[in-house]
Amino acid sequence: MEEGKGRRIIMFPLPFTGHFTPMIELAAIFHHRGFSFTIIHTSFNFPDPSRYPHFTFRTITHRNEGEEEDPLLQSKTSSGTDIVVLISLLKQCYAEPFRQSLAAEVGGGGKVCCLVSDALWGRNTAVVAEEIGVRGMVLRTGSATSMCVYEAFPVLKDKGYLPIQETRLDELVTELPPLKVKDIPMIETKELEKLYQILNDMLDGAKLSSGVIWNTFEDLERLSLMDCNNNLQVPLFPIGPFHKHSYYLPPKSRNKDDDKITEWLDKQDPQSVVYVSFGSIAAIEEKEFLEIALGLKNSERPFLWVVRPGMVQGAEWLESLPSGFVENIGHKGKIVKWVNQLEVLAHPAVGAFWTHCGWNSTLESICEGVPMICTPCFADQHLNGRYIADVWRVGMLLERSKIERKEIEKVVTSVMMEKEDGLRERCLTLKGRANVCLSRDGSSSKYLDKLVSHVLSFDS
Ligand code: UDX
Repeated sequence: MEEGKGRRIIMFPLPFTGHFTPMIELAAIFHHRGFSFTIIHTSFNFPDPSRYPHFTFRTITHRNEGEEEDPLLQSKTSSGTDIVVLISLLKQCYAEPFRQSLAAEVGGGGKVCCLVSDALWGRNTAVVAEEIGVRGMVLRTGSATSMCVYEAFPVLKDKGYLPIQETRLDELVTELPPLKVKDIPMIETKELEKLYQILNDMLDGAKLSSGVIWNTFEDLERLSLMDCNNNLQVPLFPIGPFHKHSYYLPPKSRNKDDDKITEWLDKQDPQSVVYVSFGSIAAIEEKEFLEIALGLKNSERPFLWVVRPGMVQGAEWLESLPSGFVENIGHKGKIVKWVNQLEVLAHPAVGAFWTHCGWNSTLESICEGVPMICTPCFADQHLNGRYIADVWRVGMLLERSKIERKEIEKVVTSVMMEKEDGLRERCLTLKGRANVCLSRDGSSSKYLDKLVSHVLSFDS
């Protein structure tokens, strides 16, 4: 399909894995329809462009970059990074460089038909796009439900649910069932007002945009999408799950470690392995790390566990494990720094995914029909965990406050032994519903056609 031939889309992703990956997948979907792409990317977390030879990358740098007074460097403190402070600084530091870069791209000839920016960049991208004379759309990489909850924040504040109080954590939010107070998407921060501003600005930006593209599918979030439609009053395009559209994205370069993981999985029985990963940002305390290690060992199932270097607070990698732990588990468990998650979840040996419930991981697990053990860590992950466990019923919650070896053993055994009635069947049913949405006449495919027409209409 060549509808987009001769037309260029500019993209502006937020520089984090959970946001960059769906943006690149979206570019690949559009590239398949003939569009070409320029990706404006911050120097912060700049990706390896050689992995995406079809796309042109432009780096934007900010004032004081790399110098002592670089605010982004200063945001890294010994107690870790406050993600709210970091996002707020990224928005400040890159606002002007982004404006200059977009102006140069649009002024540089070639037909630029629109800008697609991550919703978290907020209203500035919409304002800048308008000023430069290009239509601006936003990509929301999280769920539609989380957007509805952010929209409800003023009500939640009025009713006293926010700021969250420790004593009310288990209370039902009657305005947003089945959410409990502890499921409200919040981030632990010393800058609560900044967090409210970021979220409000995201909603304003979406409302000013020419449409919101969503990595979700209608059958999964129909009611929330209807609410978003009412709230945002711009066209919505739920075309996900992005990674399941048939398009060509050059495969991630495989290394020897990937091969070793596949070899190890190949040796395991079908649906016998617990795959454990807490995504690309979440960090855990050393005592939680030790409980997870012992819980996994005691549950006596093979496990594949991603421990990112730096994920355990105060440790480089595995040094806080009891001595001999790795040797003692032998072939029964495998601890690695990173995996190709799509490949792992699709492997027949994987029987459960113990996840932090990031939105990408949630969708990836749903698409492979893998039951989840949910340990949300921050932001939308709490809400995703509640929906996985109580709405779609394709997983079980194992809250962070309950991370203790005996509880872990109990939940892992329960999911693996299918003690939860009908869990695996529900996972397969939901996987089937995702496939229907992605099929030729399915809602995601239809929305994609509408989206392509919408973007093409910007020419006229
Ligand atoms: C962040 C936020 O934490 C989350 O709340 C929001 O929903 C999305 O952005 P992140 O930690 O990046 O989440 O998790 P997730 O959204 O699940 O994305 C992680 C991505 O990294 C997934 O696409 C996953 O496939 C990939 N991954 C993770 C790997 O490929 N290998 C790994 O070892 C771990």
